[in-house]
Amino acid sequence: MPQQVKAVIARAKGAPVEVTTIVVPDPGPGEAVVRIQACGVCHTDLHYREGGINDEFPFLLGHEAAGIVESVGEGVTEVEPGDFVVLNWRAVCGQCRACKRGRPQYCFNTHNAKQKMTLLDGTELSPALGIGAFAEKTLVAAGQCTKVDPAAEPAVAGLLGCGVMAGLGAAINTGNVGRGDSVAVIGCGGVGGAAVMGSRLAGAAKIIAVDIDDRKLETARRLGATHTVNSRTTDPVEAIRELTGGNGADVVVEAVGRPETYKQAFYARDLAGTVVLVGVPTPEMTLELPLLDVFGRGGALKSSWYGDCLPSRDFPMLIDLYLQGRLDLGAFVTETIELDAVEQAFERMHQGDVLRSVVVL
Ligand SMILES: NC(=O)c1ccc[n+]([C@@H]2O[C@H](COP(=O)([O-])OP(=O)(O)OC[C@H]3O[C@@H](n4cnc5c(N)ncnc54)[C@H](O)[C@@H]3O)[C@@H](O)[C@H]2O)c1
Ligand SMILES: [Zn+2]
Ligand SMILES: [Zn+2]
Repeated sequence: MPQQVKAVIARAKGAPVEVTTIVVPDPGPGEAVVRIQACGVCHTDLHYREGGINDEFPFLLGHEAAGIVESVGEGVTEVEPGDFVVLNWRAVCGQCRACKRGRPQYCFNTHNAKQKMTLLDGTELSPALGIGAFAEKTLVAAGQCTKVDPAAEPAVAGLLGCGVMAGLGAAINTGNVGRGDSVAVIGCGGVGGAAVMGSRLAGAAKIIAVDIDDRKLETARRLGATHTVNSRTTDPVEAIRELTGGNGADVVVEAVGRPETYKQAFYARDLAGTVVLVGVPTPEMTLELPLLDVFGRGGALKSSWYGDCLPSRDFPMLIDLYLQGRLDLGAFVTETIELDAVEQAFERMHQGDVLRSVVVL
């Protein structure tokens, strides 16, 4: 029987989000219904609400979630009812050209549920990142459920489902930060903060946090930054160079998603260094750089989708490190809120008051 549950949707571009009732079908072949326990509020949800991703309204928002598998459809073997899972937006297909070449972290054909969740009048919903977890229950592809140790708190575990994994992975996987490296992170919200934490985990010797908000810089220190730069008052390129013997950082992570911060990242890295773009730009943004500088500075200009993670490899490992007290994922949870407070959480995110607000159900 299809179920009716409460959920948060964005009905139209720019309109405040609303709590409404949606219909969740029974899981079909390869699908699972998950009872959501917690779901973090990510900047990407706000991008959807503002029409910055695409125009496929209404969106069912929320995608950084953990919960319990309630039921599974035909042929599902990887999870079963009762499993504690973190939802992911990279259920790899195993068949596409990336998967076949042994690079499943770039899978170009990730799985989502085939059936649609709908409004009561039958209008089909577009779930954010194929998840849609500001909801009591959601329907996903079974491969989007990654089992982790149930000892982890849902509000913390769910964060690995997007922003925190994106930041950790931007540093560790995409940036390949290693022992002794110097790293700068531009933009220290949930994603950038996680890049700071990932850099520390990877053994970086110097971690320079850059933001325009002193509160974010204070938090970045707690997460592992060795130096902070407020780029509202100080030129970040000069400051990063000064802190790295005049050279620039080995790896610069851009976690804002704007041309001007990308340029800062580009010029704040050492020759042959790496820039990792993990911030998501909007469609109208363009970048102009002297091609000679692109050539002459060498190194690598990379983008990081979801921290180049493989959920099945990375989620259980990171949860284990968290449970061992070696990765303070709890530091990202600024507040827990109810389902009807997502709009206010966007507002607080906009004001820079939070790293993550997490809806707990
Ligand atoms: N690549 C991915 O897979 C992935 C995954 C999740 C989120 N994201 C993206 O990462 C970005 C950050 O997400 P978040 O959840 O951390 O957002 P957030 O709003 O929590 O953090 C953004 C931070 O950037 C800072 N900032 C804004 N303008 C700045 C500037 N000009 N210079 C320096 N700092 C500035 C803000 O003060 C804030 O601390 C967003 O674009 C989001 O869509 C990407
Ligand atoms: Zn694939
Ligand atoms: Zn996200």
